[in-house]
Amino acid sequence: MCGIVGCILKEKNDVAPILFDCISKLEYRGYDSVGIATYDNKINVRKAKGDIESVNEKLRFKNMKGIFGIAHTRWASTGKPTDENAHPHLDATKSVAIVHNGTLENYTELKNELINEGCKFTSTTDSEVIANLIKKYMSNGLNLEDALRKTTEQLKGSYAIVAFSKDEPDKIVATRQDSPLIVAYGKTGYFVASDTPAVLEYARDVIRPREGEIAILSNEGIDIHDKNGKSIKWKSTYIDWTPEMARKEGFDHYMIKEITEQSDAVKNTLTQKGKIQKVIEKIGKVKRICLVACGTSYHASITGKYLIESLAGIACDVVIASEAKYTAKTWDEDTLVIFISQSGETYDSRMALKEARKTSKTLAIVNVAGSAMCEEAEFVIQTQAGPEIGVAATKTYVAQLTAIYLFAGLISKNNALVDELYNVPAYIDEAVKQKDYIKELSKRYDFADDAFYLGRGFSYPVALEGALKLKEITYIHAEGYAAGELKHGPLALIDEKVPVIVIIPPGEDYPKTMTNLEEVKARGAIVLSVGAKGDENITKNSNVFIEMNPKIREIIAPLVYIVPLQLLSYYVTLDKGFDPDRPRNLAKVITV
Ligand code: G6P
Repeated sequence: MCGIVGCILKEKNDVAPILFDCISKLEYRGYDSVGIATYDNKINVRKAKGDIESVNEKLRFKNMKGIFGIAHTRWASTGKPTDENAHPHLDATKSVAIVHNGTLENYTELKNELINEGCKFTSTTDSEVIANLIKKYMSNGLNLEDALRKTTEQLKGSYAIVAFSKDEPDKIVATRQDSPLIVAYGKTGYFVASDTPAVLEYARDVIRPREGEIAILSNEGIDIHDKNGKSIKWKSTYIDWTPEMARKEGFDHYMIKEITEQSDAVKNTLTQKGKIQKVIEKIGKVKRICLVACGTSYHASITGKYLIESLAGIACDVVIASEAKYTAKTWDEDTLVIFISQSGETYDSRMALKEARKTSKTLAIVNVAGSAMCEEAEFVIQTQAGPEIGVAATKTYVAQLTAIYLFAGLISKNNALVDELYNVPAYIDEAVKQKDYIKELSKRYDFADDAFYLGRGFSYPVALEGALKLKEITYIHAEGYAAGELKHGPLALIDEKVPVIVIIPPGEDYPKTMTNLEEVKARGAIVLSVGAKGDENITKNSNVFIEMNPKIREIIAPLVYIVPLQLLSYYVTLDKGFDPDRPRNLAKVITV
C-alpha cells in the first residue's frame, strides 16, 4: 500500500519539487517513511523514517538536483519502518534505483542467492532484491528494460516497480503485477504513479499498463512494451477530477472536507441513473446476487443486500472479500456478483473478482476511474464522489450507497424510492450543519474505552459503519451490533461507563429498537440516540439526542444517519489529539 511516483520532465529543470509535491498527495497510502532519488550525472538519494513533512524538514527534498527521478512513501510490510528500509533502494554498486509497492513472497530465496554471489544488502526489505537483480542482469549485458523484465520473471508476489539506472540515464521504466500503476502525461512531462491523485496537478491523461507490460518514460514520451518487448498502441483516459478536488481547500483535514462534500457525492452519483438502468438491461435476468467487498464498502454491501432482497425479492448474499472462497464455489451463470470498492484496487476484492469472472456475471461499483476493477469486471458503475484522500472513507461510502439504492430501486422498478433519493443531498446538508453541536458533545466521549453502536434492519449496517469510524481514527474499541443480538452477549458488558449509540429512525423497526434502547438504559449505559427530531420517547430515554429531519424514513436513513456518526468520530479524534486523516497502522488502499 505504499505510494510510488516517477517523473521525467520535458525541459531540463529540477524534478525534485514536483516529485515532492506528487508524493505528498499519496501520503494516505502510507506514512512510515519517505524518500526520493534523482539523477544528476549520479544517483542522489534522500530518505528517512517519518511522515513526509517532518522528513522534508530534515532532508530538504526540494533542493535535490536532477531532471528525472522517483519517490516513495511507505506503509511497512516486510521490514520495520527505519531509515535503511525507506525507499528508494539502490543495488550494492549504487547504479540502479528502484521504488516498489507490494510484497514479494520469494524474496528470502532470491536474497540468499544474491548474497551467495557476493551481493551486500543494507535493508531488511523484500524490495532491495529488485535493485540488485536488475543490476545483475544489466551487468550480464541486458539493457534496463530487459533487465527489469528478466527480474520480474524471478519474482513471486505482487509488485509495482519504478526504476532507473545511471548506466542508461535517459529513461524511467515501470511495471506491475497485482499492484496498481498508472502512467500519465501533461504539459511539463511524463509521470508514473500508484494512484491518479499523485499527478492530477500536472497530468490528467492517464494510461494503465496491463500486468507484465513495461512502460518506458523518456523526455520525449511514453512507450509501452508487451512481454516480448514489442511496442503496443495505448489509449489514454482523461481524468475529469480537478487538482482542487484533491486539496484541503481551507479545511483543517481532508476528513471534514469530505464529510461536507457528501451531498455533492450523492447528487453527482444520482446523475448515473440512466447508465445504471442500461447496465441492468444488459445484465438481464439473474436468479441470485452476491455482494463482495471489504471495510466500509462491505457495510455499503450489507445495505445493498437488504435493499435488493426487500425491494426486488432476489436472494442476495453478502460476503467479505477475503472470506469469499467458500461462497465462490456456489457462484454460477445465474448469479450476478457485485463488487463494491472505493479504490477498485483492493487485493482481496480483485482476487474474488477473478474467481467470479470464471462462472458469473460481474458488476463493479467503483469510485476511481480506470482502476483495476473497472477493467476486470464485465459491467461497471462509477460512483461520483471525486477523489477521497482521508483514510477513513466517508463521501465514497454515501456515493456507494447511492449507487446501490439506484440499482435496487431501478431493478425493482420502485420509482417512489428512486425519486426520494433526490431529497437526500438536502438532508445530508442539514445533518452536517449540526457539526458545532456534535463537536461540543464529542468531549463527553473522549474518556471511553469501549462503545457500542446498535441498529436494526437498515440501521444495522449504519451501526457497523459508525463503530468502524470510531475505532479506526479515535482508537476507542467500538462494536456495531444488530440491536436484537444485544441480549445474546454484549449486554453483559454494558454499565455506566459505556456509551451506547442507538440508530433509531422512524419506521417499522422503531418499536423493537426502542425496547433495546430501554434495556441498555436500564443497565445504566450512557445513551446517545440518533432519531427523528421531536421524538419524546427518545428524548426521555437518552442522555444525548442527535435530532434528524423527521421526513427521513427508515429505508433512506443509512444515507443520512451516518453523517452525525462520522462527525462524532472526527471530533473525538481531535479532542484526543490524533490526526483523523492518518490513523496509525492503516492505509487507504490495501493492495496486498
Ligand atoms: C481500507 C480503507 C477502508 C476501505 C477498505 C476497502 O481498509 O482504509 O476505508 O473501506 O480498504 O477499500 P475499497 O477501496 O475496496 O473500498
